[in-house]
Amino acid sequence: MKQLLKQLTETFGPSGYEENVRKLVRAEVKPYADEIKVDALGSLIVRKKPIRQTKDTKKIMIAAHMDEIGLIVSHVDGNGFVRFSPIGAVIRSYVLGGRVRFLNGTQGVIGFDRLDDLNELPTLDKVYVDVGATSKKDCPVKIGDVAAFDRPFAEFGNRLVAKSMDDRAGVLVAIETLRALKSTPHDVYFVFTTQEEVGVRGATTSAYGVDPDLGIAIDVTPTGDTPGSLKMEMDLGKGPCVKIKDVGSISDPRIVKWMIRTAEKIKVPYQREVLLVGGTDARAIQLSRAGVPVGSLSIPVRYVHSPSEMVDYSDLQNSVKLLTALLRTPIDLG
Ligand code: CO
Ligand code: ZN
Repeated sequence: MKQLLKQLTETFGPSGYEENVRKLVRAEVKPYADEIKVDALGSLIVRKKPIRQTKDTKKIMIAAHMDEIGLIVSHVDGNGFVRFSPIGAVIRSYVLGGRVRFLNGTQGVIGFDRLDDLNELPTLDKVYVDVGATSKKDCPVKIGDVAAFDRPFAEFGNRLVAKSMDDRAGVLVAIETLRALKSTPHDVYFVFTTQEEVGVRGATTSAYGVDPDLGIAIDVTPTGDTPGSLKMEMDLGKGPCVKIKDVGSISDPRIVKWMIRTAEKIKVPYQREVLLVGGTDARAIQLSRAGVPVGSLSIPVRYVHSPSEMVDYSDLQNSVKLLTALLRTPIDLG
């Protein structure tokens, strides 16, 4: 599982450019899928059919997004310095001093315009990428080229660190659940979505296409366990979080109950999540067509949207256990 997570997180895939991630996921899920499709926005839709189709069979959409934050070239000056526009919520304090890698393999160092006050934090329009060029002509990237943050996967004991744990950790949980599931009474659609970081766009079209009876998003969630963090319950290493509310959606209380009941039954630790910032694909699923009941299973992560997002290995294992148990048993939302 760690090896696959390393591969997933080290793969290039900013929003709109998820192709390499999709290839990797497709190869992993192929032996376990009954049907594989790619929709017009690039989401990979992997179906696991029920043992027996009856009138009570529920169509469940599991969503995990393949894309990551990044940047897109907006200007190259005469000396070959590259200005960019962020893809998704790029956090200023995390990018300075870092490196990026473009789809064509070009690497760059992130620098910023000289500041009068060294304690000041430059705004992104004062930040640039130095790809080693000396002029616009010899610059190996052009306007519209896309880059992702560059940082290798690392293992600190039980803590795993990489860029794009958001949401490759979720992608991993979905893949491993499909592998572990073997059979299900439900009609399950594992959807590896695109363009979440720019406004849950891939989940919007794929939820419309799948037309599920209920949905669960698998995504990371920021923790409340670091110095000066927001006052929230979620801790690293204390189990998957059952989302009750975030900024984008309020989980269906029946789904929250079902998730908690299942976690308690199989004795997997879980945490109750009220997230004060951000949202997930659950929002797009919930607001699709005439509305869909949703929940989210979240993996606690520290330093979200930095090139060193940290998760705890046990949270990944317990997330797989919980999601597998949820999909193995009949659901009574009544
Ligand atoms: Co994110
Ligand atoms: Zn995410």
